[in-house]
Amino acid sequence: MSKTTAAITAVGSYVPDFVMTNKILETLVDTNDEWITTRTGIKERRILKGEGLGTSYLAIKAAEQLLEKRKLDPKEIELIIVATATPDMLVAATAAYVASEIGATNAFAYDLQAACSSFLYGMSTAASYIESGRYKKVLLIGADKMSSIIDYTDRTTCIIFGDGAGAALFEPNNEGLGLQDEYLRSDGVGRNFLKMDAGGSLLPASEETVKNRQHFIYQDGKSVFKFAVTNMADSAAKIMERNNLTHEDVDWLIPHQANKRIIDATSNRMGLDDSKVMMNIQRYGNTTSATLPLLLSDYESQLKKGDNLVFAAFGGGFTWGSIYLKWAYNS
Ligand SMILES: CC(C)(COP(=O)(O)OP(=O)(O)OC[C@H]1O[C@@H](n2cnc3c(N)ncnc32)[C@H](O)[C@@H]1OP(=O)(O)O)[C@@H](O)C(=O)NCCC(=O)NCCS
Repeated sequence: MSKTTAAITAVGSYVPDFVMTNKILETLVDTNDEWITTRTGIKERRILKGEGLGTSYLAIKAAEQLLEKRKLDPKEIELIIVATATPDMLVAATAAYVASEIGATNAFAYDLQAACSSFLYGMSTAASYIESGRYKKVLLIGADKMSSIIDYTDRTTCIIFGDGAGAALFEPNNEGLGLQDEYLRSDGVGRNFLKMDAGGSLLPASEETVKNRQHFIYQDGKSVFKFAVTNMADSAAKIMERNNLTHEDVDWLIPHQANKRIIDATSNRMGLDDSKVMMNIQRYGNTTSATLPLLLSDYESQLKKGDNLVFAAFGGGFTWGSIYLKWAYNS
């Protein structure tokens, strides 16, 4: 009997309508389109506007698109994982609300947080449930409303991040398609370089923390950049080596969209030319947990059954890694 693997069998996505261009950012902070474009590759990002709309709003929209495309009854879903760094609330899982809103009444649901690696780690978690035979339909959603924790007076962070969501359905496969291998790592040294100081158990919210703007994300961009370049490229190279993949064998690199220069360094290390590198950073910026599924959704029509996909991500924590997956369907 062939081994059961975990394949992605459908994807969906959502980005909010409001487009925040580099030109708009020029009116908020001391920056310019040329600097942002050359240093990051970003031209615009999407921002969720409107009172009372959190990350769940984005996640629900992405999940609904997937259900509609696949004509899937939400009652068939057994587990929903929402990978996010910006849950609706710290207590009360966003995923539980999402499950109820989309009608997944037979599912249990929880959140998974590993900053920009949340979706990558979530792929490992979702796949494990499928490979073990425990569940047959696991919906993994990567969603973040980064604009809720961005300081729009801080030019080093506000230019990078945007809002969005993407969803992927994991199901068993008996043709050897789906997740093949993973290399996942973390290092707590990173929490000094990329973090939101207040609002957690270490530094609960107070008048002081609000005054000190500690409920916004802080990053030491240069240090994060150095760690990200090295580790994203290393882990992608390691996954290739371990699976005897040459640059010709790899059909697509699906890299976290934090900075075009980090993506270029990773693809160069893998020996891939640009035509094999998925990229939408110019339109969405860094959507944290949503970058990887947004890419899958944007490029879905170009993917072919059997394609070799290498995912790579790096995020706060630090957290990082790479996953090798064989695509399972033609759309
Ligand atoms: C944030 C980042 C784009 C900054 O780019 P950089 O090339 O490292 O820029 P530096 O921080 O060295 O700053 C260079 C200069 O540009 C200035 N600068 C910073 N942000 C600027 C902006 N938005 N507009 C114009 N100038 C800016 C700095 O003040 C600095 O000026 P100085 O030389 O006079 O001191 C880059 O470090 C980065 O992408 N880091 C990783 C981000 C990341 O991956 N985050 C998420 C992890 S998942």
